[in-house]
Amino acid sequence: MITKTITNLDSFSGTILIPVFETYSKSIVPIAFHGLEIASKVFFGKKDTHYVAEKNDNTYIFIGLGKTIDYKSLKTIFRRISSKQKENFSSNVALVIPEQCVEEQIEAMISGLLLGTYNLGHFKSEKEEHPFLNSEFTLNLVTENDYLAAATKGIKIAKAQLSTYNLVDLPPNTINPKYLAIWAKETGEKYGFDVEVLGYEASKIVGLGAFLAVGKGSENEPQFIIMNYTPTTEVKHMKHVGLVGKGITFDTGGLNIKTAGMVHMKCDMAGGGAVFGAMQLIADLQLPIKVTAIVPCAENAVDAKSFLPSDVIHSYSGHSIEIIDTDAEGRLVLADGLSYLIKNFKPEYIVDIATLTGSSVATLGYECGALFTNNVEMARKLQESGDSIGERLWPLPLWDAYKSDIDSDIADVKNYSGKPVAGAISAAKFLEYFTQEHKAWAHLDVAGVAFGDDEFAKSKHATAFGVHLLTKFIENL
Ligand code: BES
Ligand code: MG
Ligand code: ZN
Repeated sequence: MITKTITNLDSFSGTILIPVFETYSKSIVPIAFHGLEIASKVFFGKKDTHYVAEKNDNTYIFIGLGKTIDYKSLKTIFRRISSKQKENFSSNVALVIPEQCVEEQIEAMISGLLLGTYNLGHFKSEKEEHPFLNSEFTLNLVTENDYLAAATKGIKIAKAQLSTYNLVDLPPNTINPKYLAIWAKETGEKYGFDVEVLGYEASKIVGLGAFLAVGKGSENEPQFIIMNYTPTTEVKHMKHVGLVGKGITFDTGGLNIKTAGMVHMKCDMAGGGAVFGAMQLIADLQLPIKVTAIVPCAENAVDAKSFLPSDVIHSYSGHSIEIIDTDAEGRLVLADGLSYLIKNFKPEYIVDIATLTGSSVATLGYECGALFTNNVEMARKLQESGDSIGERLWPLPLWDAYKSDIDSDIADVKNYSGKPVAGAISAAKFLEYFTQEHKAWAHLDVAGVAFGDDEFAKSKHATAFGVHLLTKFIENL
């Protein structure tokens, strides 16, 4: 893909995209562009509308933006145009930049265009290639200004999100822990971060007992993936962020087998998928910060070798855990991920992200992720970062009043309260137990937002929630 700036359309031939802010809807003045006139009855820039016209071998697509538009809506509108109008696209596209647009808006438009190339039909025998995926594809920005940096950034964001779409949407017989380990190594080499992987033997030697318990019943060997990024140019007083993502490649529930919704549980590595995408993006953008990321990857399977409800297991931290429910597996792998991160890397800030509980979905639905932290500054920065790009978070409490939910008689803690209430909170309290009272830790429960329904497919699919949010948070630190 080639991106360049042109100042007029005089010698252009191809597809021309014209974003239009809403004009006064009752106006009788038509929209005029390049010798084309559209009656205001037909199109006046109303949000979520578009109008296609042909003239002199060019295709003109007028795109309605409404009166004011936020980052996420802009991105969705452009994704829609690119995915649903692909027959109208040639491999030469001109995007007319409206005068009142700011850099972030251009970034959002171009990200959206690229996301529109995503096709859920990974295993279809016949696939139609999107014209943007042609190596000749050229995106011309029609403007007097230089917006190439914003365009490049928009492309990098979308590329990272597309990586995450693939990792989450591909089925669990493709995306197993080893696949993720190989993906991490290859992506680290390509974009510039180091990757270390602990398989079964190495995890056993270092004592990742909670992590290994979850993977015990699976034919697929668990992989504890550790990634380290440092920018190539030297940065003074560089901050250090730690990320942990839940990487359950499939969650059957284990012996406490799921009775509902199991078919969607390939999404249970979406927190890990967000961390993988964020690492690609952080390295691609060469952010001036050090990042250590851990994704404990395992399959929670049903087998004679599976861990049992009432087992007591020994976590990396040295604390014992009583297993009440094998379906509360995410917190177990995250406990070892968090302990390992803190003990070996001592990051200043820690964010974990996981499709952790159905309870968070019952509480907040599909509109935002649940945010848990005692750090006021982090809460604000995470929420602000999310609001600015349309990946919203809303806080839930971490009060010690909920701590007794994880008290065990036989071990240091238990993995489930056994109560049908406050499940997202007790899960967060469980994770907190393994953070060694770290002063800057936040937990994001994204079970309701990482995988869902939208206009782009008939079945639930990945949203890449977290890729941009984590990156933006790190940029804003
Ligand atoms: N992976 C699930 C949570 C989940 C639910 C993810 C819906 C995506 C959509 C998690 O491992 C789980 O099974 N949680 C249980 C915990 C319970 C047994 C304590 C839950 O929320 O029901
Ligand atoms: Mg589970
Ligand atoms: Zn799970």
